[in-house]
Amino acid sequence: MNKTIELMLNRRSVRTYADKPIADDEKKAIFDCAMRAPTAGNMMLYSMIEITSQDVKDKLAVSCDNQPFIAKAPLVVLFVADFQRMFDYYRYSGAQAWSKQEGIEFTEPQEGDLLLAVNDALIAAQSAVTAAESLGIGSCYIGDIMEQFEYHKELFELPDFVFPVTLLCFGYPKTDGPKTPVPRYDEKYVHFENTYKRFGAEELLHMADRLEKWQYKGTPPEYKGGNIGIHIYARKYATEYAKEMNRSVRVALKAWSKEQ
Ligand SMILES: Cc1cc2nc3c(=O)[nH]c(=O)nc-3n(C[C@H](O)[C@H](O)[C@H](O)COP(=O)(O)O)c2cc1C
Repeated sequence: MNKTIELMLNRRSVRTYADKPIADDEKKAIFDCAMRAPTAGNMMLYSMIEITSQDVKDKLAVSCDNQPFIAKAPLVVLFVADFQRMFDYYRYSGAQAWSKQEGIEFTEPQEGDLLLAVNDALIAAQSAVTAAESLGIGSCYIGDIMEQFEYHKELFELPDFVFPVTLLCFGYPKTDGPKTPVPRYDEKYVHFENTYKRFGAEELLHMADRLEKWQYKGTPPEYKGGNIGIHIYARKYATEYAKEMNRSVRVALKAWSKEQ
């Protein structure tokens, strides 16, 4: 084992932050590492918006499904999938005129471009996470940034070909000392050889039960619906935030494909 692997195997999300700012050189290292991440065609189909305004952090703590710790994070960065920059560049470089001359349709960013840009944004984000971790700085992803698309689009002045993929909160952990990584499903459920493996009832029930029981150890909740599977489903789908995320992403996809 080496230090990088040890670091990655012990990482866990950090949601309570010490009252200690992140120094400029640490911040620079985090952003530099994000920008060294692999990127499709070296096009850097993402942008990073550092939120320095406390007012905006406060707004995000509410708009991202009421998660107050966002407002307390010393460093908050929005990672957006960004095809706007490349598309504008194509136009300025004369690609539109060239297409016309060649009788080729000049296409706006498509669904594939969106997924590619989402990949780029997330790979850069995870590089930032690992860099921060190596400096002793914890982090937590906020997927709820995909909710309330119209609100976030206006708040950050996002053009149509920019989609807010994830928000990252960074900060020194409030408590140091040993931290136990959150367990994952057994490797056999996620690591296959050559072809996809689909599981049956017995294996899947075992897979999820084991993990959820660990997560709820000490204070087992009253399982909604009587079992863990229904409990997770209820938490993930029968909630307002889950409905809002799907509604919001649908609107974003329409904006991207100009259907609205
Ligand atoms: C895409 C994504 C979205 C997430 N959104 C949130 C979030 O909105 N709030 C939060 O507290 N944690 C969020 N997390 C953190 C996960 O809850 C966390 O990674 C998971 O429970 C496993 O714990 P660990 O990271 O400590 O191993 C998110 C993680 C990912 C990858």
